[in-house]
Amino acid sequence: MAEGEAEAMAAGPAPAPVGSAASPPPPEADPDVEPLPRGFRCRLCQVSAANRPSLAEHLRGKKHQRLRTLRAERRAQEQRSLFVSGFARGTSGAELAEYFGAFGDVATVVMDKEKGVYAIVELREAAGRERALAEPQHALAGHRLRVRPREEKVFAYSPRPGGGARREPLGPEKLEQALCQAPDVDAQMSQLVELLELSEAERRVRHLLVTLFQEVFTEFFPGCAVVPFGSSVNGFDTRGCDLDLLLDLEPTKSLQASTPDAPASTSDTENSLLSDIDLVATPATELLDLVATVLRRCVPGVRRVRAVPSARRPVVKFTHKQSALAGDVSIDNRLALLNTRFLRLCADADARVRPLVYAVRLWAKQQGAGNPLGGGPLLNNYALTLLVLFFLQTRSPPVLPTVARLRDLPVKADRAVVAGWDCTFPRDAAALAPSANTETPSSLLAEFFRVFSDFDFAGQLVSLREGRASPLPPPENPEGLKLGPLNLQDPFELDHNVAANVNAKTAARLARCCRRAAKFCRSLRYRRKSAKGRAWGLTRLFQPAAAQPGDAAAAAFLIPIPRATRGALAPSASARFAPPSPSSSGTFSGAAAPPGRPFGAIPRFLLLGESVDSPKKPTAPRRRKPRRDAGEEESAAEGATWTCAVWHRVWTGRRRLRRRLLRGDGPRDLALERTVSQTIVHRDGAERPPQPLLRFAASARPAATHVLLRLLPSPDAPAPLFRDFYHFLKSFLPAAVRRRLGEGAARETQPQDGEGGSTP
Ligand code: UTP
Repeated sequence: MAEGEAEAMAAGPAPAPVGSAASPPPPEADPDVEPLPRGFRCRLCQVSAANRPSLAEHLRGKKHQRLRTLRAERRAQEQRSLFVSGFARGTSGAELAEYFGAFGDVATVVMDKEKGVYAIVELREAAGRERALAEPQHALAGHRLRVRPREEKVFAYSPRPGGGARREPLGPEKLEQALCQAPDVDAQMSQLVELLELSEAERRVRHLLVTLFQEVFTEFFPGCAVVPFGSSVNGFDTRGCDLDLLLDLEPTKSLQASTPDAPASTSDTENSLLSDIDLVATPATELLDLVATVLRRCVPGVRRVRAVPSARRPVVKFTHKQSALAGDVSIDNRLALLNTRFLRLCADADARVRPLVYAVRLWAKQQGAGNPLGGGPLLNNYALTLLVLFFLQTRSPPVLPTVARLRDLPVKADRAVVAGWDCTFPRDAAALAPSANTETPSSLLAEFFRVFSDFDFAGQLVSLREGRASPLPPPENPEGLKLGPLNLQDPFELDHNVAANVNAKTAARLARCCRRAAKFCRSLRYRRKSAKGRAWGLTRLFQPAAAQPGDAAAAAFLIPIPRATRGALAPSASARFAPPSPSSSGTFSGAAAPPGRPFGAIPRFLLLGESVDSPKKPTAPRRRKPRRDAGEEESAAEGATWTCAVWHRVWTGRRRLRRRLLRGDGPRDLALERTVSQTIVHRDGAERPPQPLLRFAASARPAATHVLLRLLPSPDAPAPLFRDFYHFLKSFLPAAVRRRLGEGAARETQPQDGEGGSTP
């Protein structure tokens, strides 16, 4: 077929001939155009037009015309191409080109990325492809080839990776800034949703990835369906949330069962990787390995593929390079499709649901974030969302109906039983009556914390089906529900406690965090915007909890720093480096090598330079004394405290910069580190920012083999940023001190030059 013809076919109805009496068709008649409630959308270019004239203009425009031509070329190309598999590993494109050259001139051969599984062979003429397809059997070097027409793909404009599809990362400062400007907590809550939810472009990237997976898996599992579930599609999406996919192989199994002995030419499955595999009889772990192999070898951009057969719902984990997404593929989780629809229904049922869920999720994440030694998340996102939905079912009057009520709504078309569980509920929120509850989102949030502050999670079963908590069934219950310190029953899979993995410590922490949040929500700082620009409302609520005695966090933010061995530094040097704090005198004075001289050895660029404020005013630990465990009390009394401020992210891009500088003849060791810091500071601009990124207090106390430095972030320090800084410092500082001590020892045995004694 000539290219002109292909274009005419692909581009829809031909325009009326010039001079014809018939008027041209209206622009909305173009098959690429989809009418919207307001305006139109061009499916090809993924562009919206507000009215008919701007639609007509778009259709005449360069972009649309270029994409039409491109599509026509692609279609023509597809109609000349073959999908070939079954050849021996290591077979080259040239060998395949030679073989298919017998049917017509070969234009290109594109091998899959590992040159092992399949190839796309494009002939110059469609007739050549037809001749190859008409051949009943193909064999190359003793291997039987599977030859089929190349799949025709839906052609639509795909944004360049990174081009518009990714939004700027939303750092904690940006989030805080945006939320602090809102007039009240209700506005903060709706803004939170807008800031966190996926953008249209991000959704499109996900959609394209699902389409890609569908295309590839269809080649190997004819008839299969790749369906997204979870946070990407349940109404509670957040930037960068993972992509959960179900690979539904049931249609493939049916296809296989219906054509067990069909000859190769008529059986779809015969032409696939699965010609020798009986999907019904294959154990799940093998199927999972097969899925992992297809992902690894055949999906462009997919990396880090790992089957996790031991999970409750076995999955194959992956990441995708271009979209920077991480995801899971499961082959047996149809219930998740239904609970995803249920969550979507709840999200759509009432405008307060999403703000509340987003606020609770971010709050819960921050409670884990404040705990660098672990403790982990309070609950997984699914469980947390169900807890919020349950709470909304139990308001008076309820904000959401119970699952039992939803089941009884007269919407017959939505009856569904999956894996024996009744999953009947309306698919469309329009079927639900509006709630009579008039509570505001901010008061619901405060109430959420109050209700779960002293909720008897261990002694009751939370049921979304009934919308109430009931006494626990006996431990050996016939349903097989695994009971524990937190019992939250899945709304459909009634034998599944979605919080079964929560231990007593985490359950207690959840209650404690709720109590703290409830207390804060009663304060003016929750309800009233700060006139002084301080954190208030959600931003204050999201700050991680201060460490409590007994918490894992109480021991947090510690950095053990090596101590100098006696005589490592001359007394003069130690005097120069020791902070002149009266409170530190017990620790730093005396010996030639002061035992607790942590900051004496810290390079200047961290404490005196641009990145961290000088400990110029060492404060005696009178006020704002960091909490201590009882065991620390004695030695901490001897320590010193500094207040510090971080002005630049001296850790971002540090390693790369260091590598670059190391290639030249520049300084080495600590001098190199100082240059790296200075370069980073200059990268940020000549001006010092008006505010530091974060402030913290640091205290030091000696221990037997090291000095223990303890950091305490100020209450308004953004938690994720502080964590990044802490992790950087934790690995950087001890190494820098070790080097500094080494340099000191070296200087002691060498003549000092003018520079030698100064802090780097
Ligand atoms: P996640 O816990 O990953 O939650 O479970 P999420 O809602 O996708 O949130 P992100 O991805 O952490 O942001 C993914 C999906 O798996 C199903 C639910 O459909 C859930 O949305 N799931 C999870 C269950 O069916 N049962 C469970 O116990 C957990």
